[in-house]
Amino acid sequence: MIEPDFLRTTRTAYDSVAVQYAELFANGLEDQPLDRAMLAAFADLVRAGGGGPVADIGCGPGHVTALLHSLGLDAFGIDLSAEMVALAREAHSGIRFDQGSMTALGLEDGSLGGVLARYSIIHTPPERLPEVLAEFHRVLAPGGHLLLAFQAHDRPSELAESFDHKVALAYRWSPDRVADLLPENGLAEVARLLCAPREDDERGFPQAHLLARRV
Ligand SMILES: C[S@@+](CC[C@H](N)C(=O)[O-])C[C@H]1O[C@@H](n2cnc3c(N)ncnc32)[C@H](O)[C@@H]1O
Repeated sequence: MIEPDFLRTTRTAYDSVAVQYAELFANGLEDQPLDRAMLAAFADLVRAGGGGPVADIGCGPGHVTALLHSLGLDAFGIDLSAEMVALAREAHSGIRFDQGSMTALGLEDGSLGGVLARYSIIHTPPERLPEVLAEFHRVLAPGGHLLLAFQAHDRPSELAESFDHKVALAYRWSPDRVADLLPENGLAEVARLLCAPREDDERGFPQAHLLARRV
């Protein structure tokens, strides 16, 4: 199958910055209590639903996969970038990391208790987001949970708008419009958290966390 251009360019871009990216996030999510709170709630819900493997899709250097592990989940990471996967394996030797794409996951139907996609759907062209949500639905077991995090915008008439991400072409999303796409892909919204822009974010983008359950 011919690989779409956006996957090739995103992979090449992240391959070339993987080391700097890993250094930037060496402290994990220490200074991000709201992110940690959403991840802790996600972990509780996955465990309450019977557990099962959890895929951190677009895991980068694996720091959040490791956090999920520390929360008692059977977490593993998947990333488009071979360099990211290599760094994640090196830093977290007890955890599994595979190269792959959220557009076509090499995973069995209904095999996961949870899917995390943290700032990784941002590189998906808007017209392909439904396909990605359908893929997350396919790999989740009934009752499994999905947690998305992404840069948000507040114009609900637009699903997405592109922005000048430092690494690769990226989109920020309307939380309402992304939530609208959940039911038609077999997912029900459970909760959402909209965080005001961080003081150190000169672009002033709000951050959205959207939690859903596979129906
Ligand atoms: C902004 S980084 C986020 C990394 C990590 N999730 C975090 O929270 O720091 C985006 C990551 O998603 C990966 N990615 C982008 N598109 C992807 C795709 N289609 N499938 C899998 N990974 C993807 C990139 O290679 C990169 O490592």
